[in-house]
Amino acid sequence: MLSENVAHRADTIDDTPYFTEEDSVESFVNRLNCNDERLAEVLESLVKHLHAFIKDVEPTVEEWMTGIKFLTETGQMCNEWRQEYILLSDVLAVSMLVDAINHRKPTGATESTVLGPFYLEDTPDYENGANICLDGKGEPLVVSGRVSDQNGQIIEGAMIEVWQANAEGFYDVQQPDLQPACNLRGRFRSDSDGRYWFRSIKPRHYPIPDDGPAGRLLGLMGRHPYRPAHIHAIISADGYDSVTTHLYFPDCPYINSDTVFGVKESRIIAFDLIEDERQAEKMGVEAPFWFMQADFVIVRK
Ligand code: BEZ
Ligand code: FE
Repeated sequence: MLSENVAHRADTIDDTPYFTEEDSVESFVNRLNCNDERLAEVLESLVKHLHAFIKDVEPTVEEWMTGIKFLTETGQMCNEWRQEYILLSDVLAVSMLVDAINHRKPTGATESTVLGPFYLEDTPDYENGANICLDGKGEPLVVSGRVSDQNGQIIEGAMIEVWQANAEGFYDVQQPDLQPACNLRGRFRSDSDGRYWFRSIKPRHYPIPDDGPAGRLLGLMGRHPYRPAHIHAIISADGYDSVTTHLYFPDCPYINSDTVFGVKESRIIAFDLIEDERQAEKMGVEAPFWFMQADFVIVRK
């Protein structure tokens, strides 16, 4: 009986060593028995980096429990409309890193940024030139441009889907009682010259939802919760990789400190104030109005 026990203990020590601080990662890895190779790879890396983090920081038990409580509250904040973990990933610059890794583009192609939580699949289709501002509030803006591939070949029939906040920094879905449904969002198609254009208003910067743990963390880090003024756009066409991107306004006070790290230099688009009455009339807006030319370059699959 005694010898059986000893033999059993010896086997265990050889195959799966007991936990030690030094060999903590090996203790975990030796017990991995996944059928899914990718899952095994992800878990091994996760634990390797997590243990390295703990060894670096050496948290007290109280500090570790503060972290656990923070993650618990992050989960408790989530519901059908609110995804606090995505906000956490956004403010830690992880969303933009995942986006960058998954959307490496050749030089000259329109760069991607995060989708954000205010995208709606169900959005109106418009003819070029339509006004997506349904309540007439804000400074008029005309956006116009061309869709082409990296060789300068124009693309007809590309879909340009846009959505943006209003002049006070709120999306339609945040103010269902104050803004018309589908205010400041819509879909356009490039014409036979690859051109699209629409009328809108100049959007304002806005804070990301900051009444939960992600917002509290921003405060603790000494950071503000603002995203600089922008228009979201998704450009897609048959046979091409679609791109999810933004048009940023260079005059915004938050252009250099986006709380979700979403700004890329190539996506800051110059715009002008046009005071000429005849041009305003031609575009169906009142003078003065803002004009932004935003071309898009998408890449063949
Ligand atoms: C947005 O641009 O709509 C957005 C992106 C990330 C977090 C919150 C909002
Ligand atoms: Fe946004």
